[in-house]
Amino acid sequence: MLSRSVGFGIVGCGVIAPTHCDAIKDVPGAELVAVLDIDPERARSIGERYGVPYFTNQAEFLAQPGLDVVNILLPSGFHATVGSAAAQAGKHVLVEKPIDVTVESALKLIEACEAAGVKLGVISQHRFAPEVIKVKKAVEAGEFGPLVLGEASIKWYRTQKYYESGNWRGTKALDGGGALMNQGVHYIDLLQWIMGPVESIKAEVQTRTHQIEVEDLAVAVLRFANGALGSITGSTSIFPGLPEKLEIHGQDATALIEADVLKGFYNRANLGEVGNYGTKQTISDKNDGKGPGGAASPTSIGHSLHTAQVADFVAAIQENRDPAITGRDALRPLEIILAIYRSAAENREVKLSEEFSNSR
Ligand SMILES: NC(=O)c1ccc[n+]([C@@H]2O[C@H](COP(=O)([O-])OP(=O)(O)OC[C@H]3O[C@@H](n4cnc5c(N)ncnc54)[C@H](O)[C@@H]3O)[C@@H](O)[C@H]2O)c1
Repeated sequence: MLSRSVGFGIVGCGVIAPTHCDAIKDVPGAELVAVLDIDPERARSIGERYGVPYFTNQAEFLAQPGLDVVNILLPSGFHATVGSAAAQAGKHVLVEKPIDVTVESALKLIEACEAAGVKLGVISQHRFAPEVIKVKKAVEAGEFGPLVLGEASIKWYRTQKYYESGNWRGTKALDGGGALMNQGVHYIDLLQWIMGPVESIKAEVQTRTHQIEVEDLAVAVLRFANGALGSITGSTSIFPGLPEKLEIHGQDATALIEADVLKGFYNRANLGEVGNYGTKQTISDKNDGKGPGGAASPTSIGHSLHTAQVADFVAAIQENRDPAITGRDALRPLEIILAIYRSAAENREVKLSEEFSNSR
């Protein structure tokens, strides 16, 4: 256990950097000690805003006293390379989603952290939303009975200008994909976290409304290992951007989540008698509009869930345990997304255990 605060250094001072800096500030026992960006103006801007030394040189940044955790907020295809260098320098690694854009590079990062004996955590902040956790626990407690159907719908909107706002956005090499790899990954992770492992996938993807190398529309049908079916709909072409949804149906219960808010939870106990045609009770809308969604803009994402995940990572270091979302946990949504791409490209069903036998 460290007798001082756990020191965080940010790598990548772009759009998501203030969210992490604010989260670190809010976590007792965590302290921001340095920031790094190859763009000197961006490094200076975040460094001055948060009152910490800023760097453009990785070696100087890594040598900063009190630096325990390297927090990687880079274009996704750089996560593993920079994370592995940080691990080799003896730093814990907390990396933004997706862990990287290929299973091979993700495994390299996982193995580099294991070899160095440092912690690796991957951001998937929606797993910390209280009402999402409530549903996960209810499924684990058997309140849903056998699972029937799980659906994730991420119908967001991004302009062509958004894709042009960074030279890595919408590229195969560094974004790794589009509406699923960058935006959909959050709720795809929740879907598999709650429903369990995915066995096979059939999918179609398109690039519908943007000039980009990757998909802005995808629809997939899933079969889970427990026999339930599922679907994923992901897009950045749906004007004006709708709140993301997760719908979990078991034989005995249904949960409807919208932008992390539980909009409906129905089970046989709270509905009473259900007739031949189901129930006539209508769904009450209890969304207060304060959900932390990013449907129409990534800057509308609040930092409270990142704060919860940073707090967990600090506790994992202090208690010498695994963080809530490890590198291996983060492989699962990555595999699902890559399987969707493979299924669409080859027009066939993809079985995940065969496709990813090297990471299981
Ligand atoms: N969890 C979330 O809700 C969430 C939201 C937005 C972004 N993200 C993730 O965060 C990551 C960054 O996204 P963003 O939108 O902030 O990107 P961005 O383009 O705004 O910022 C990336 C920064 O990295 C810098 N950079 C690039 N290569 C570098 C290198 N080798 N060394 C140092 N700096 C380098 C760039 O100059 C830029 O300032 C992505 O992986 C994205 O998926 C997560």
